[in-house]
Amino acid sequence: MEIMQGEMLYEGKAKRMYATGHPDELVMEYKDSLTAFDATKKGSFEGKGSINNRINAILMTALGELGIETSFIRLLDESRALVRKVTILPIEVIVRYEAQGSLCRRYGIEPGLSIDPPLLELCLKDDALHDPVISAQVAALMGLATSDEIALISWRALVIGEKLREIYGRWGIRLIDFKLEFGRFSPADGSASRVILADEITPDTCRLVDAKTGEKFDKDLFRFDLGDIGAGYSKLLERLQDSAG
Ligand code: TMP
Repeated sequence: MEIMQGEMLYEGKAKRMYATGHPDELVMEYKDSLTAFDATKKGSFEGKGSINNRINAILMTALGELGIETSFIRLLDESRALVRKVTILPIEVIVRYEAQGSLCRRYGIEPGLSIDPPLLELCLKDDALHDPVISAQVAALMGLATSDEIALISWRALVIGEKLREIYGRWGIRLIDFKLEFGRFSPADGSASRVILADEITPDTCRLVDAKTGEKFDKDLFRFDLGDIGAGYSKLLERLQDSAG
């Protein structure tokens, strides 16, 4: 069915959102741009939007099949997907299985330290404040979400993490850490409003390495100039597509 793409409602660093003729649905368009360090480092490569759109679709579909409700509805074309319209909670939920990135920078932890049980961190989604880590109490105090919602997304991120680890594992890929965002879905027909997994799961939002060789497939290639990010993202998509059939 042809989708009516209406006005642009929001433009972020890596995606644009558009209205559709349906009150509960939006078009999510992936851009070729990417940023790091609160958008102080900027870049882009041709095909990035389309690769991330397809990787996200494969992962969200796999999670959906495992019983996780997500905002993803279906792919529309190379760089666009149809998604549920949600109000994003301004909390980034991070789960870590190995110390890397800001965890090491903040606390002087040696990169590579294995983390078991996984570590859950909540961050305030605010580039101007550099997405600081916040406690559940501060998040509730600021009214970012209710205490119950914060408990729910924290617990759910750990469950989703176990599923993601298994999904990536099937493809010979090790998940080091990832970031999720959740949104409040309030259907226009008045049925119960609920918090569901939203935004994206892509190599922009996960650290991923080949389980055997340690080859990197994620945005650290760009953040730290470690290699050809286009080649890394393409290889990841090829792997996922190969085994997704
Ligand atoms: P960090 O080590 O830089 O805090 O990143 C942890 C994980 O979260 C990593 O997989 C990248 C992801 N992430 C985002 O998706 N968006 C962000 O703004 C940041 C800082 C990290």
